[in-house]
Amino acid sequence: QNSEQAQLISLYDQTAQLYTHVLLNTKMGQQALEYLHQRGLTDDIIEKFQLGFAPGEQLLKEFFDEKKVDYQVLRKSGLFIEDQQGQLRDRFRGRVMYAIKNPQGHVIAFSGRILNKADSQAKYINSPETKIFSKSNVLYNFDIARTAIRQEKRAILFEGFMDVIAAYQSGVTNGIASMGTSFTNEQIYLLQRTTTQLDICYDGDDPGQAAINRAIDAFSQNSQLKLSVIEIPEKLDPDEFVRQHGGKQFNEIVHSARLTPTAFKLDYLKRDFNLNNEADQLTYIERALKVIGQLGSSVEQDLYLNQLAQEFNVQVADLRQQLRQIRSQQS
Ligand code: UTP
Ligand code: MN
Ligand code: MN
Ligand code: MN
Ligand code: MN
Repeated sequence: QNSEQAQLISLYDQTAQLYTHVLLNTKMGQQALEYLHQRGLTDDIIEKFQLGFAPGEQLLKEFFDEKKVDYQVLRKSGLFIEDQQGQLRDRFRGRVMYAIKNPQGHVIAFSGRILNKADSQAKYINSPETKIFSKSNVLYNFDIARTAIRQEKRAILFEGFMDVIAAYQSGVTNGIASMGTSFTNEQIYLLQRTTTQLDICYDGDDPGQAAINRAIDAFSQNSQLKLSVIEIPEKLDPDEFVRQHGGKQFNEIVHSARLTPTAFKLDYLKRDFNLNNEADQLTYIERALKVIGQLGSSVEQDLYLNQLAQEFNVQVADLRQQLRQIRSQQS
């Protein structure tokens, strides 16, 4: 069984090397290479992250056939799709390939991005679950980022692979990404063994902001990690921000523009209200008090209660009174 895992790891390693070779050195990979250059990646970075290109043909199938790799092994690898007749076809075709690695740095899966987003196909397709890959347990780039996470005593969580890579190119090397929205105990365990502080830096668009809210709740309920939020302006992805404003400005944001989870939540909540309108103000205050009421420390509660009082020109004592009422209704 152990040797089956070793066999799979070897297949994925060879596949990653092949895809990178195709991307960097062949005519088949030219368009994809141009695409990645246009997104700001250098060939060094492409090699560092083992990016690749899976061409439209049955390249991988032929590659492993030539090496006489066993059909059953190929079948279980997840690198192929099996048709009705049991024929294997390359799973990834015409896609830019991101190598997903385990904490030891071995390739265990791929995510393939379509080159032309206008296509009706999914933007990304991922490897299926195998003996070596469980999608929900992966932290992309953890193998590379671990040292920096230890040194800086914090990790930055991004949404996408390209965000991690763009941050890395700007010198922000403690970035990781999950491949989905919910977080597993395994991911939390990996992080908590390495650091106590997690900065969430998702996309600036509406889905990204909603996902921050969910991630805050998930991590505060299931982990001991201290959280903060790094907000990317102008509704940009971190990767787009780096390209448009440069690595220096990105570093400034990452190191200085950190919000507490509560500050983020209050900001986020505010977007639903027209605060020129008194009825909206009252509803907002009530909803904000519920957020503040969830805080464990009374010093923290005081901080936000004072802010709220100043913002709406009301007495802190009245807010405290209302908070007590809300609490007694809830219990
Ligand atoms: P995004 O839609 O924000 O993609 O999804 P992106 O990372 O910015 O990609 P680019 O910049 O367009 O190349 C964020 C993450 O969600 C997962 C991927 O892990 C992606 O990086 N995702 C997204 C999927 O698994 N499948 C999809 O179809 C879309
Ligand atoms: Mn070029
Ligand atoms: Mn997004
Ligand atoms: Mn993006
Ligand atoms: Mn994105």
